[in-house]
This record gives sequence, C-alpha cells and structure tokens, in this order.
Amino acid sequence: MGKQSIYILFFGVCFIKTCASFSNTTEATPSSTGNTTSWIENFSDIESKFSLRTADTPDEDMCYIIPGQPDTIAGCDFKRDSQTFVVIHGWTVTGMYESWVVKLVKALYEREPAANVLVVDWLARAQQHYPTSAAYTKLVGRDVAKFVSWLQAELKYPWEKIHVLGYSLGAHVAGIAGFLTKQRISRITGLDPAGPGFEYADDQSTLSPDDAEFVDVLHTNTRGSPDRSIGIQRPVGHVDIYPNGGTFQPGCDLQNTVMMIATSGFHYMDQIVKCSHERSIHLFIDSLVNQEKQSLAFRCGTKEAFNNGLCLSCRKNRCNKLGYEVSKVRSRRSVRMFLKTREAMPFKVFHYQVKLHLFSQQNQTFIEQPIKITLLGTNGVKEDIALVVPQLSTNSTISFLLTSDVDIGDLLMVKMVWEKDSFLSLSSWWSSSSFLVRKMRIKAGETQARAVFTVKQGDIVHLVKGGEEIVFVKSEEDEASRKQRRMHRLKMYGSSFKQSTM
Ligand SMILES: *[C@@H]1O[C@H](CO)[C@@H](O)[C@H](O)[C@H]1NC(C)=O
Ligand SMILES: *[C@@H]1O[C@H](CO)[C@@H](O)[C@H](O)[C@H]1NC(C)=O
Ligand SMILES: *[C@@H]1O[C@H](CO)[C@@H](O)[C@H](O)[C@H]1NC(C)=O
Ligand SMILES: *[C@@H]1O[C@H](CO)[C@@H](O)[C@H](O)[C@H]1NC(C)=O
Ligand SMILES: *[C@@H]1O[C@H](CO)[C@@H](O)[C@H](O)[C@H]1NC(C)=O
Repeated sequence: MGKQSIYILFFGVCFIKTCASFSNTTEATPSSTGNTTSWIENFSDIESKFSLRTADTPDEDMCYIIPGQPDTIAGCDFKRDSQTFVVIHGWTVTGMYESWVVKLVKALYEREPAANVLVVDWLARAQQHYPTSAAYTKLVGRDVAKFVSWLQAELKYPWEKIHVLGYSLGAHVAGIAGFLTKQRISRITGLDPAGPGFEYADDQSTLSPDDAEFVDVLHTNTRGSPDRSIGIQRPVGHVDIYPNGGTFQPGCDLQNTVMMIATSGFHYMDQIVKCSHERSIHLFIDSLVNQEKQSLAFRCGTKEAFNNGLCLSCRKNRCNKLGYEVSKVRSRRSVRMFLKTREAMPFKVFHYQVKLHLFSQQNQTFIEQPIKITLLGTNGVKEDIALVVPQLSTNSTISFLLTSDVDIGDLLMVKMVWEKDSFLSLSSWWSSSSFLVRKMRIKAGETQARAVFTVKQGDIVHLVKGGEEIVFVKSEEDEASRKQRRMHRLKMYGSSFKQSTM
C-alpha cells in the first residue's frame, strides 16, 4: 500500500462518510442568548467530565470534579496550592482514550509531582463523524470555560496556575474555553491543532493568541492543501513551532509503517496513520522528562531558509525552547520557528550552519549533489552525515544545515566528501568535476559558537566529485579577530568592502 493510499484511507475515515452531517453542525453550536454572566454559572447542560488523575493511577478515572458540587473538589483531593494541568483529547475513532493520554499524565506528574492533572472526558462527542465532533468543540469549550471559572471562583484559585493542553480538536476546545473565560487562562499549549474545518475559520472558533496570556503551538502534520491538512498550517499562537518543517516527522515514513503493520497487525493502522500528528504530544512529553536534552527551535521566515542553515540565531528571542520550558515571548505577530529532531525520544539534535565558497576556472553548476560530512569535536564524533546540497556552482558560496544527534562538544575538525551520483551520468564519465575550497565557516545553533575551518594541509584543496575526503581544522582566526580586522579596515578606508574570498 502506498503512502498516498494510506492518506486517502485516513481522509476516508475522516470525511467522505460524513459530508451529510455538515448540515447538522449548526445544531451543535450553542445558541448565543444574552446574559453573559449567567450562562457560565449554569452547569445543567455540561456533558464533559473532569477527571482528576493521580500519579499513582495515571491511567484511570477514579474521581470526577463536578462543577457546582464543591464537595467533589475536596473529595478528589484537589491541591489548591498547586498548579493545574488540564489535558484535552481530540477526535477518536474508537470512542476510547488514546494511549498518549496516560503517557502525558505520567510525564506531567514526573515533572511536577505536586500538580493537579485533570483530563477532560468528551469522548461521547469526540467519537462522532469528524465534522460533528469538530462542531462540538464549541460546546466542549463552553464546558471547560464553565469548569475552570467555577473552580477559580470556588477556591479563589489563581488563573496563573492553569495550563491547558489540547491535542488536535482538543486544541481548539482549549482556545474556545480560553476565549470564553472572563479572565485569561495563563497558558494554552496547542498540540498539532486540527486543520480540517479550522484553517479558514475565525479566531473565535479556533485556537488563537487571544485565548490565553501565552499560547504555544507545535505543528507536526501539516501536509497537503490547507483545509485538507490534518494539522492546521497557519500559526495560531504566540510561538508556533514547526518541527522538521511541520509537514511530516522522521520515523513516520512508509518503511516504518510497513514494519509496524508486520509486527503489530492492522489494528494499529490508526496509530500509524497518526504518527506525525501525535508526534506533537511526544515532543512535549520529551520536554517534560528529558530536561537535560532540551530542544531548541529557531525563528525563520520559511522552512527552505531554515534548511539552508540561514536561521540559527538566538539574538532578540530568535530562538526558544520547545515544550514545557518555552520562554513566554509575546510579539504582536505569531512567530514561526523551526528545528530538526531525531525520530525517537529524546528528540534533540544539534544544528550547524556550514558555509563554503567554491572556486573554479570554469563555469559549472551541479544540481542536487550528495555530500557526506563528519564532525569531530571535543566530546565525540558524528560520522557520515549525508545530505543533498541543492546546487554547487562556480564562484558562489553555499550554505546548508547539518544536524547531529551526538553532542560532539566544541567542533575541532570537519571532513567532507562529494559523492558520485548513484547513477552513471554522462558528464561525470568523461570529465572529472571539481571545485577549489579554501575554508569553511560553521555556526552552531545550540551554543551560538562560530568558527572558521581551514584546509588541514596547504592553503586550498580540491573538492572532487567521487574523490577523496577533504579535511578542515579549526583555525586560529576566530570571529573576534575577524571583527577586529573589519573594524580596522573600516577605520582605514571608511567602508567595508566585500571579501572576495568570503
Ligand atoms: C443530526 O443530529 C441529530 C441529533 O442531534 C442526530 O440524531 C442525527 O443522527 C444527526 N444526523 C447526522 C447525519 O449526523
Ligand atoms: C445577568 O444575570 C445576572 C445574575 O443572574 C444578573 O444580575 C444580571 O442583571 C443579568 N444581566 C443582564 C444583562 O440580564
Ligand atoms: C440552564 O441551561 C439550560 C439548558 O441550556 C436551560 O434550559 C435552563 O433554563 C438554564 N437555567 C438557568 C437558570 O438559566
Ligand atoms: C572565479 O573567480 C576567480 C577569482 O576569484 C577567477 O580567477 C575565476 O576566473 C572565476 N571563475 C569564473 C568561471 O569566472
Ligand atoms: C562565467 O560566467 C559568467 C556569467 O555567466 C561570465 O561573465 C564569465 O565570463 C564566465 N567565465 C568563463 C571563464 O567562462
């Protein structure tokens, strides 16, 4: 089965069965009758349930806090001096909690043992046809708004202590709840908010930056045309992070899919199709439990620019931590941030920008060239990082992004090979292709360190297609001395002329 057909299957489940029920969606939306002070205190129509899970039994709903019944707060052992996490699930085919719920609850308690972790149960409304469940987000959002407002009023519970986490449709539930509460919830985390039906919807129907003091969002499955994308494509928070470009996550490819089907059988199909979508949750869990392996994301205009290594700056809040420890930077416009990750937990990788200038006497251009790079540092080695460089051409500077899952420490040496095409092209047959290279500049995203690497032997080296490895070592010339020389030139000549040697 091709990737395409799996996709179609998913949408089949999602929509095709159910287009008719779109006519029903208006029924599900609440009628907006006037008195805004009283509806939020009317608990008679609340259908969602609020289960206080415990660290001991994170997998079971043992105790529900019921709005309007203050004794249930004490009865469930709600800790009024602790912070509270409210977890909201999304659409479900099976009508049961998905396996991530217990994982997230456990991770929250592992990180914050004193906290209250509540799970919102709206399973009955979440197992309808997708468009019906999508429309129900309005009612569930109202339920959640009533619940947190009541809890706050009942206990004089500080709003700053409430952090709502919503996955898929649950992210929009969180947004609607935040929009309806009179005072702002302190933080909403949107975990791959659902796309279909929401991409073009207004701020009141979706998660948006107005819904909490701070809204952070992870986008992990945003493939296809906007309203058909499982995850919403546009930014909907203060900080919107797109791991691996946001479209598709490593480890979720067809090969893994086939292997999972082979080992686990077809009833896991559901899990497999959602791999990238659900990755948003596992990235957040990772940030809770692997504190010493904190992933960093970098602000960038486009994912193409990011993939060229052009966005590894941390100046002026251009980088931020992914997940629990995010810095709550609120700019007027949503900020798009990117990072690469590993295919499994811990997800952290180290990012590097590599720049080099290619000289030649002949005009030549090569498209999509395979390159392998080895990084050697004070702590370790990352060997044979394979990548495809979009273009190599005469007298131009190339820049690309490299990642290493190994923490190599301070970079000392770099080895590079320009590989042969996998097929025999005519041009590489009758002429040897090569460029001259003098040095490399490398910037490390995680440490913000920059360094220049020069040819190990001699002054300049031939980078030959299908040829030998070329080796660069960290040069004495560091960024500070380069700046000094630039300042010196500025003083001497009154302008900073372009360095032809990059
Ligand atoms: C429309 O909603 C009603 C009640 O809310 C339900 O009984 C009916 O099955 C729904 N129709 C469709 C097509 O979902
Ligand atoms: C709304 O309800 C509250 C209490 O139920 C009442 O005090 C208030 O006057 C009502 N407001 C309006 C505009 O009806
Ligand atoms: C509470 O809501 C229900 C259902 O929407 C409605 O029938 C009832 O009249 C409301 N009660 C009050 C006191 O407003
Ligand atoms: C590339 O630049 C070098 C000097 O920097 C020059 O000698 C060479 O002719 C240029 N190559 C081409 C193809 O223009
Ligand atoms: C290389 O190309 C540039 C611009 O396309 C041209 O100006 C230059 O003369 C060419 N150099 C050689 C050596 O062909």
